Amino acid sequence: MTDTKQLFVDAGQSQLFQNWDSLPRKDQEELLSNLKQISSTRAPTRLLEDCQNAIKFSQTNSSSDIAVDVKPLPSTSYESLIGNSSKENEYWQAGMEAIGKGEVAVILMAGGQGTRLGSSQPKGCYDIGLPSKKSLFQIQAEKLIRLQDMIEDKKVEIPWYIMTSGPTRAATEAYFQKHDYFGLNGGQITFFNQGALPAFDLNGEHFLMKDPVSLSQSPDGNGGLYRAIKENRLNEDFDRRGIKHVYMYCVDNVLSKMADPVFIGFAIKHGFELATKAVRKRDAHESVGLIATKNNKPCVIEYSEISNELAEAKDEEGLLKLRAANIVNHYYLVDLLKRDLDQWCENMPYHIAKKKIPAYNSLTGKYTKPTEPNGIKLEQFIFDVFDTVPLSKFGCLEVDRSKEFSPLKNGSGSKNDNAETSRLAYLSLGTSWLKNAGAVIKDGVLVEVSNKLSYAGENLGQFKGQIFDKNGIILEK
Ligand code: UTP
Repeated sequence: MTDTKQLFVDAGQSQLFQNWDSLPRKDQEELLSNLKQISSTRAPTRLLEDCQNAIKFSQTNSSSDIAVDVKPLPSTSYESLIGNSSKENEYWQAGMEAIGKGEVAVILMAGGQGTRLGSSQPKGCYDIGLPSKKSLFQIQAEKLIRLQDMIEDKKVEIPWYIMTSGPTRAATEAYFQKHDYFGLNGGQITFFNQGALPAFDLNGEHFLMKDPVSLSQSPDGNGGLYRAIKENRLNEDFDRRGIKHVYMYCVDNVLSKMADPVFIGFAIKHGFELATKAVRKRDAHESVGLIATKNNKPCVIEYSEISNELAEAKDEEGLLKLRAANIVNHYYLVDLLKRDLDQWCENMPYHIAKKKIPAYNSLTGKYTKPTEPNGIKLEQFIFDVFDTVPLSKFGCLEVDRSKEFSPLKNGSGSKNDNAETSRLAYLSLGTSWLKNAGAVIKDGVLVEVSNKLSYAGENLGQFKGQIFDKNGIILEK
């Protein structure tokens, strides 16, 4: 028996070889090569152990357990930009200075499969119905272009690292190539893949097969970012390019402010090693993760993990005490990544998600498309490292939801976080910039302002006094 086969048999996975003798030689080789590749990153016994630990973890951390000692972040770690424009200007300057020196890079997480949205293409290619038909990727690229235009030294290019996964890589890269990188220099964009993990049966005892020659696998979750940075040696690339600060965001937020100078400046001015953006929780019972502290350490706590009393508690200003809704938009100091990445990769827990996983049954030789969850996917959560960062080095910036957050999660016909809400949020923001610049906009009219023209409302003075009385207008550079 080959070493690889033995490794899996010893791990109790002989079901994978049920049809071995009837497989053509070429398929036997393919199965072995696929298994070898999986076991080269983590031994099968370790993977099964990870799954058992994740099952136990989910049982001890069930939603009926109310976490104790959860508190809002202290004022030394928490600041709001709402109604705080003087701070905004100060931070903007500091952030722009770092960008101007070529010290800032952007990481995009675009490895998710967008199951709820149900599009066959990667989410970033999605057309949210803007008059221009621009996709999320194009909008993001144009924000970078405008930001670069605002830098005095016009030669600075902001490196953009795009994390993809097996299911999204080829289509994402081809999409950027087809559109000539939307006007950016192809050399400033680096695609890198996150890892994948095999799926398990509901008991976490056996790997599920996708077909006779491969296991069913899926991306390792947004927390897979850290291992992906490590495996792809991005820290070395950061050093080579002189990058000191990283802005990380999710592909599905049409309002994400690429390389946001204000956020970067906030972290630099306070000496934070890791910072997060948050929006104000809409009401006490909005079901969102909250950025808070647990046992005096930074954390993200799920809504279900806190008591009603704590969820509803207010401060002296009458605002919810726990109001920092997590939007998965982070700042990382590169020195922190260099110091802690290895231990994060080693120690981050896995979480289970019970899913309907199409599978091949090697015992019967049949394929199943389940209607009920039949298996477990493992994933890591990006915020599971927060508690390793000292509170004094952890910051959270509260930003205005209408200016910064409108995620595309669900397909058409859903109530919220869909293409329609993304489209409206994007058009409403651009229209509000125009109004602030003195344009006259008829009630109910929405104008599309290209981000190549304006990053955050600046540069629109030319439209002062201009009347906009119909929908569908696109203001391009
Ligand atoms: P979500 O957790 O909302 O997942 O991702 P998703 O894939 O977009 O959608 P569903 O849950 O399948 O419907 C939030 C962000 O994290 C990225 C996504 O691409 C998105 O930018 N992500 C998620 C990854 O990069 N890798 C993953 O394994 C999971």
